[in-house]
Amino acid sequence: MTYKITAEELAVQKDYMRRVADINAQRELPPVAHVHSFGCQQNVSDGEKLKGMLAEMGYGFSPEVRGADLVLFNTCAVRENAEDRVFGNLGALKHNKKENPDMLVGVCGCMVQQEHITEKIKRSFPHVDFVMGTHVLHTLPQIIYEVLTDRKRRISIPECDGVIAEGLPLKRESGLKVSVPIMYGCNNFCTYCIVPYVRGRERSRDTEDILREVRAAINNGARDILLLGQNVNSYGKELGTSFSELLRRINDIEGEFRVCYMSSHPKDATRGLIDAIAECEKVTRHFHLPVQSGSSRILKLMNRHYTREHYLELTRYIREKIPDAALTSDIIVGFPGENYEDFKETLSLIREVRFDSLYTFIYSPRKGTKAAEMPDPVSAEEKGKWFRELLEVQQEVGENAYRGYVGKVMRVLCEGVGRTRDGCLTGKTRQNVIVDFDGDRELIGQFVNVEITDALNWALLGKIV
Ligand code: SAH
Ligand code: SF4
Ligand code: F3S
Repeated sequence: MTYKITAEELAVQKDYMRRVADINAQRELPPVAHVHSFGCQQNVSDGEKLKGMLAEMGYGFSPEVRGADLVLFNTCAVRENAEDRVFGNLGALKHNKKENPDMLVGVCGCMVQQEHITEKIKRSFPHVDFVMGTHVLHTLPQIIYEVLTDRKRRISIPECDGVIAEGLPLKRESGLKVSVPIMYGCNNFCTYCIVPYVRGRERSRDTEDILREVRAAINNGARDILLLGQNVNSYGKELGTSFSELLRRINDIEGEFRVCYMSSHPKDATRGLIDAIAECEKVTRHFHLPVQSGSSRILKLMNRHYTREHYLELTRYIREKIPDAALTSDIIVGFPGENYEDFKETLSLIREVRFDSLYTFIYSPRKGTKAAEMPDPVSAEEKGKWFRELLEVQQEVGENAYRGYVGKVMRVLCEGVGRTRDGCLTGKTRQNVIVDFDGDRELIGQFVNVEITDALNWALLGKIV
């Protein structure tokens, strides 16, 4: 069972927040926390809650590990290199802890929801003071209180299908671009993926809770709302509502702002949803639809529940309904049993769909998943070769897509200072494409019309009209 945290459970944690704040108030200087989120936007969004609770407890924040009184690593388990990075950083902390034995070290997030990882931390990282699973994020105040008062190690990783914790304080990374989780967990069990094991079952937040958060963010100056879920298209199934309905409700909120979402599963992206998006003028014209592979044979082994043909039909419908839509995707190279013929089908799909850009990954076996048990005869070297070939194809396809924007006038949300020229501004179009242009810094946070004059392979250049 998944469940919503009760008011009583929340009150208990609020009480611990006060107790830790009291302890911290007795210090000469307020304590400083270093919180690092290693993973996806959901993980970063959890990090905002962790920081929100820490701020309530009297912590200030530092981007540096050195000098911190509390170091909290919010980890990701999606690929081996994500985990290696965490272990590398954790190892390096040994010497910080020697310098400052009072420093508290905590590890939370997806990685520690795996038993073999927790065992390794217990065994090899004695300087870690607490480990906290993904379903008990809201108990950070209690864990910190306990560790601060008795200095005994805490490992809190209850078995659970997942919780929804409303009402936690938040410390957002940005006021302009705001992430709002709409659902947690995943039920899809793609055979390569660890997420369903570490994040629990799908559960949706109440629409009213989401709307309240979105309205508050917009009142506070947010102009870019990113709705988060592992598979946003299945939002609301258990509540008798749908993602289309949620988009419509958000689109009805007054003001000029933009609504984006991450991620969509192609199997659940229906024509009805695309029609709804076409009608909602605040919703982004960007479809991030992770295809993973262009081979129906591999898609079946991946348990993706769609075929190459279905995906192509879906993207054709998007192009027809929303001609200015941009499409992007995730690709995995070297899934167990994939051969060069399968891989070539991925390349041809990329050419056919004409993606703006891609997130590309070499398959990484995850302990406990089905794919990790499948025979995987292709060498790492060979997979590396395919991977480079994929990048070349995407480079070409992406450049073509970006060149297609030149000459167009696009509505751009100005987000800050750009990188392409000294003093230029940067923003994103409704297609989620980066545009750099010259203008006054006062435009940051506003929407402007920009004529696209040139295309690089990762950004557009333009001038305000
Ligand atoms: N829920 C999202 C994806 C989350 S993980 C979705 O389904 O779209 C983000 C991406 O990481 C996936 O789309 C996939 O391309 C990649 N990925 C996940 N597990 C992986 C693995 N074991 N090896 C390589 N890439 C992986
Ligand atoms: Fe992983 Fe598939 Fe769920 Fe995405 S939909 S999180 S890839 S299991
Ligand atoms: Fe990583 Fe967990 Fe996100 S495994 S990708 S941080 S949901």
